[in-house]
Amino acid sequence: MKLLVCGGAGFIGSNFVRIRVRDHGDEVVVLDKLTYAGRRENLEDLDVPLVVGGIEDPEKVAEALGDGVDAIVNFAAETHVDRSIAEPDAFVRTHAVGTYVLLEAARERGTRYLQVSTDEVYGSIEEGSFTESSPLQPSSPYSATKAGADLLVASYAHTFGLETLICRGSNNYGPYQYPEKLIPLMVLNALHGDPLPVYGDGQQVRNWLYVEDFGRGIGHVLAHGTPGEAYNVGGPDECTNLEVVRRIIELTGAPESLLEYVTDRPGHDRRYSLGSEKVRALGWEAQVRFAEGLERTVRWYQEHEDWWAPIRSGDFRAYYERQYGRSLS
Ligand SMILES: NC(=O)c1ccc[n+]([C@@H]2O[C@H](COP(=O)([O-])OP(=O)(O)OC[C@H]3O[C@@H](n4cnc5c(N)ncnc54)[C@H](O)[C@@H]3O)[C@@H](O)[C@H]2O)c1
Repeated sequence: MKLLVCGGAGFIGSNFVRIRVRDHGDEVVVLDKLTYAGRRENLEDLDVPLVVGGIEDPEKVAEALGDGVDAIVNFAAETHVDRSIAEPDAFVRTHAVGTYVLLEAARERGTRYLQVSTDEVYGSIEEGSFTESSPLQPSSPYSATKAGADLLVASYAHTFGLETLICRGSNNYGPYQYPEKLIPLMVLNALHGDPLPVYGDGQQVRNWLYVEDFGRGIGHVLAHGTPGEAYNVGGPDECTNLEVVRRIIELTGAPESLLEYVTDRPGHDRRYSLGSEKVRALGWEAQVRFAEGLERTVRWYQEHEDWWAPIRSGDFRAYYERQYGRSLS
């Protein structure tokens, strides 16, 4: 299969490209704007062409599509909720305009289109799990613009008969995740002896999904999903943020005294939970439990200082200072 993978230089996108090239022998072209989160280094071990540009730019999209592909898979997004609260602008442009430009390109060419989305579009749930027919009730500019993109994708299936699919993943973790996100942030701070800033009471519950399981799930939906449908892809284990940090303390051997409670994120959702029966019925199953996946992830960061050292000594420091009001060591 020949794929255009948008946002393929980011965390989940690069893991997906690796799976498709190595395990499936796919031909892949990546279109990525290389924002702070997108890095050439994430694809260094793979021989895939990278077109640098935004999905909101029709000329770059046409260049990346070349003579045509079998499917477009769109990971391209601004993905950090904290940044969406501070500066929503890029979220609206990439998620609304960018998704629209890709959909138009897919419509012109009759190309199958898969949108990578998130459990956050459903909002928070105290008990039970969301199904694909649950209402979309996003609460941050990040999740609201992602939900808007999902609705636009669904409209292209309904109105134009475009073969679209939507995959809504739960919280991903694993190698190549930018250290602004909970798990890599805590792992790197623990390894450096920096404080571990936990938002609010740390009792926010997330449904953790190992990134390779999500990548396999997306490939599975692309091959076996019914056009026009959305599929939840949830992880096998739920865990509070505080519990995640405690496990990282154990795995890294950092002192418990590094744990520090900080002011909660405004509008912080308490619990996300996805029911994944629909994708299971297609034959997908998560293979990595949280305990094993977290151990693998901690080990990866321990062994890949060359990957994270330039980030931690670069622009990320200024971001961290703005966000947490203190410096990194
Ligand atoms: N991380 C999670 O836990 C999670 C869970 C479920 C779904 N998702 C979704 O998966 C997708 C990928 O998330 P991630 O965690 O890998 O994010 P990421 O921030 O690591 O990567 C995003 C990538 O998109 C690129 N990009 C951003 N704006 C672009 C634009 N306008 N044009 C082209 N490229 C652009 C960036 O350069 C980067 O390479 C997103 O759509 C996100 O909503 C993420």
